[in-house]
Order: sequence, then C-alpha cells, then structure tokens
Amino acid sequence: MNYQERIKKLRKSKIYLDDYQTQEIIKCRNDIIYFVENYGVILHPKLGLTKIKLYPKQKEVLENLVSYPFNIILKCRQIGISTTIALFGAWTLTLIPSFYLGIVSRSNDEAVELGERIKRIIKNLPAFLWGGDFIVNNKKSFELMNGSKCVISAPIPDALRGETLNYVIMDEVASMRHVKQIFASAYFTVSQNFANLDELYSKKMREKPMGIALISTAGNLKDFWVKWFYKRWISAVNQNIDYSCGNIKWKAISIHWSEVPFCDSNWYESIKRNYGEDMELFEQEMELKFIGEEDVMKEESTYIARDFSKISNEIFSIPEFNWKDIKDNYNF
Ligand SMILES: Nc1ncnc2c1ncn2[C@@H]1O[C@H](COP(=O)(O)OP(=O)(O)O)[C@@H](O)[C@H]1O
Ligand SMILES: [Mg+2]
Repeated sequence: MNYQERIKKLRKSKIYLDDYQTQEIIKCRNDIIYFVENYGVILHPKLGLTKIKLYPKQKEVLENLVSYPFNIILKCRQIGISTTIALFGAWTLTLIPSFYLGIVSRSNDEAVELGERIKRIIKNLPAFLWGGDFIVNNKKSFELMNGSKCVISAPIPDALRGETLNYVIMDEVASMRHVKQIFASAYFTVSQNFANLDELYSKKMREKPMGIALISTAGNLKDFWVKWFYKRWISAVNQNIDYSCGNIKWKAISIHWSEVPFCDSNWYESIKRNYGEDMELFEQEMELKFIGEEDVMKEESTYIARDFSKISNEIFSIPEFNWKDIKDNYNF
C-alpha cells in the first residue's frame, strides 16, 4: 500500500468516541480480563465463533503476561494456551498505540495460524476499539490504525532480526531447533527499549508491557533445544537468576490438564487411548514430564523443585495503571 492509500484509509476511519465508548476503552485498557470476557471470541469446533469464558489459569497467564517482563509457561497439549496468547496479542495491539509484537511458533504454518487467530479476535471487536480496518494486512505482518504492528516469523535462526519490538512470544519452544539464536535476537530487539534490567523490573509494565514469553509442552531432553527450555524452566521454578541467559529472572507458570475445566475424566481417557502403549510420550505431552530428567539432574546436580505452588507471586510489584486523557493518546 502506498502512502496516499494509507492516508486515505486513516482519514476514512476517523472515529469519534462517545462517553460510553471512551469508558469502555478505559476499562479494557486497565483490565485485560474485562476486555477478553466482554469482547474476546474463539473459534469453537462445534459452536463456531463464540464468546470465551476464561478458566482461572488462563486469567493467571494473561495477568502474568501483562505484569512481568519474562514469562515461561509449561503446559500440556490442547488446553487453550495459544488461544490465551492470541487474546493477549489482540489486547496489546488494539489498546496500546504503537505497540510492536513479535510472534514465533514451531513451524511457519503454526506461526501464521497464531497471527490469524489474533486478527480474527481483532476483526470481531467493535470498530471503536480498533478502528475498523487494518492499514497493512499480510500473512506475516499486519498493522493497525493506531500504529501498532504484529510481525510473524517461522522458527528460523534469524527470525525477527532487525525488528524493534516491545514483546516477543515464542510458542512451542521445545520444538525449536534454533531456539538459542531466536531467543538471542528476540532479547536484542526488546532490550533496545530499556537501559538495563533493573530499569525494566522497576518500570511500570502496565503502561507499556515489554518482554519475552516462552511457552511449551515438555519434551525429550536428548534434544539440546528441549534442554535449553528446561534449563530456563528450572531456574524459574527455583526463582534463580538465569545467569546463562541474559541474567533474567523468569516468572514461571505451569498448567496441567486437571486444572482445565473442559478436560474431564472422559476427555482424559480418550486422550490416553490415543497414545496407546506409548506412556512415555503421554507423560511428556500431557503430564508435564521431561523425558531424561533424571539423567540431566545427575549431570547438573540440581535439585528440582516439583512443588510449583511455592512460586512467589511477589517478585515484582504491579502498579495500577491510570490512563488519563484517552482521546489525546488514542490516535485513530
Ligand atoms: N476457555 C476456553 N473454553 C473452551 N474452549 C477453549 C477455551 N480456551 C481455548 N479453548 C479451545 O481449546 C482448543 C485448543 O486451544 P489451543 O489454544 O490451540 O490449545 P493449546 O495451544 O494449549 O494446545 C481450541 O479449540 C480452543 O478454541
Ligand atoms: Mg498451542
């Protein structure tokens, strides 16, 4: 799209907000859960496009993504976490002007699919929340009227290189052979936004969230990229500083199928049948168990805290966000 067309689109979309709409934008901006539960949609396999009712762990994931710069999420399959990520993406891009988001997943198709999910959520919002049209709308990138942009990449070594981003989401990390290089360039691009880590931790995340989120199921530790994720995970549950990875303090959250309301015992039995005799794979994909953990433990002489519930919620303070003059800031 050339410059003229761009200007035309922006002019056409001039939206005048009434008081109710202004209040709604403020409520959504201050509370991601309010935004999702009032405006978020999912594509349900049986019901089609429906409103989403979040379960508690999904809410916790959203709160963490908004509040902490470095998140690590260990999950089992098919429990709605990519959906949660897409909702976070839609919230940041629509409610924060000039927000730059990067998405990487385990394959090109899955990354594009995640981008499409974000777009689907945005397109189903009322126009006053997002402007009603995209300025740029491609498979690998899209841009909104408010200057926000999403860049989508396959898990290649130079993924996201050269971008300047506020937040990078890496989904299915334990399937990314080039995780080390991808993380390095993600870290480089988000770290341009702050002078040092202390500044980032003390920054008001809710004004403009920034950081990196790693999401994955468990995997087999014979693969070095699985081991890379596992090491981050262990430092997170032990609340250690991750010295071998940018001196980051990760915020951990694990989600087991038993914490997911739509995964009942019938669901569990049918999933288990699908795995047949392969109990090891079942435990890896559904029970958050890394294969070869014992060997790595010996190798590293690390104590592994299995009790995830001990993780403190108070690593960083969460200041209340107050968006004063919305009409000035919201440049549709
Ligand atoms: N809160 C929810 N209630 C009902 N269904 C949900 C919810 N969250 C996600 N889903 C559905 O669960 C399925 C799996 O979601 P997905 O996000 O792909 O899972 P994951 O990334 O954990 O494998 C999708 O069909 C999605 O629409
Ligand atoms: Mg997923």
